[in-house]
Amino acid sequence: MGTIPRRSNLGRHWNLKEDVIFLNHGSFGACPIEVLDYQNKLRDELESDPVNFFDVTSKQLWADAIAVFSKFINADKEGLIFVPNATSGVNTVLRSLDLKEGDEILALDHTYQACWNTVDFVTERSGAKTVIAKLPYPIENSEQVIQTILSYTTKRTKLALIDTVTSPTGIRLPFEEIVKQLQSKGIDVLLDAAHGPGIVPLDLEKLQAAYVTGNAHKWLCTPKGAAFLHLREDKRNQIRPLSISHGASVEGNTDEKIRLEFDWTGTQDITPWLCIPKSIEFISSLLEGEWSQIMKHNTDLAINARNILLNALGTPKLCPDSMIVGLSAVVLPESNIPITSVLEPDPLHTLLYEKYNIQVPVFGWPHHNRRYLRTASYLYNSLEEYEYLAEVLKKEI
Ligand SMILES: Cc1ncc(COP(=O)(O)O)c(C=O)c1O
Repeated sequence: MGTIPRRSNLGRHWNLKEDVIFLNHGSFGACPIEVLDYQNKLRDELESDPVNFFDVTSKQLWADAIAVFSKFINADKEGLIFVPNATSGVNTVLRSLDLKEGDEILALDHTYQACWNTVDFVTERSGAKTVIAKLPYPIENSEQVIQTILSYTTKRTKLALIDTVTSPTGIRLPFEEIVKQLQSKGIDVLLDAAHGPGIVPLDLEKLQAAYVTGNAHKWLCTPKGAAFLHLREDKRNQIRPLSISHGASVEGNTDEKIRLEFDWTGTQDITPWLCIPKSIEFISSLLEGEWSQIMKHNTDLAINARNILLNALGTPKLCPDSMIVGLSAVVLPESNIPITSVLEPDPLHTLLYEKYNIQVPVFGWPHHNRRYLRTASYLYNSLEEYEYLAEVLKKEI
């Protein structure tokens, strides 16, 4: 085995453990030291006078966070709501829908399991139906994905849950075109942009998806618990928060009701959302102030990393390089290791972590009857880290 690889020079901005090869930015992101320091300052201020912080100080910070973030994703700020995570965003929309028996909700066989479960929950309780579009394996091009998804729609399809980047397989879907085509057939799209802001360019004004939810705590590196839900104007009076709170009994027009109902759903730590402007500014300062550069840097690294791993494993590419951004997965060679579920640790994951200090997700995906290894590429990673992983895989598989 070669020498233990080091992170990139930018790794110094993160507090990640020195001796861990951290290739899993995808699950929970990783917050840089400077942003955590800022959050700690906000928390100190909050705890020094909680009432004044919630009633007064935070109001301007909250408005600033909404303004900065809506500019970042080019969304109208009246429809932008903060939620703690993308799972809550998906639940908020799906659990507000008025589904009828026989209605259909379309999801993909790459849909994040928690969100898939939510689809099943709302279809089962209403007599509606979950329809799962099976994407080709391997995927040859974007058009194939678009046509496959369209082929699963019927007159009863009410809504489609579509990812920006798929969770188990790290595939950047042609979501802009999928949204356009589905919505032109009268099917609302709930875009799951959990891997959205900071990994792919998002222009919500242009996209006009009925609903978009996504995380800031992944690719924008905010502290955990910062996510958003955007409601298109015509949807705003149909969606209610998961927690009904004070705002429900206060009169107001639709725009006012959105703020009243969603901005206060009960006491919680609001500092992750307030850190969004700081994260956007800090991360962009690391590469000449340009987010396009950051996304390109991470994408290039991910494509190179995938090639290195595929060379080592000899398994087929799940999709062309043009459908890769900062996250990518490789198929593991067939073995007699049982394919269980993402929640159960795959023995290879445990081995890589315990024997080699490599933190990388390895999991069975029962819907494909395959095991995947998924790497993420962020500014702090280096190519040597993937080379080292490839050497280890050659030895251990
Ligand atoms: C596609 C997708 N949707 C939803 C989620 C859920 O995100 P969170 O745990 O922040 O709710 C994830 C998390 O990895 C994801 O990859």
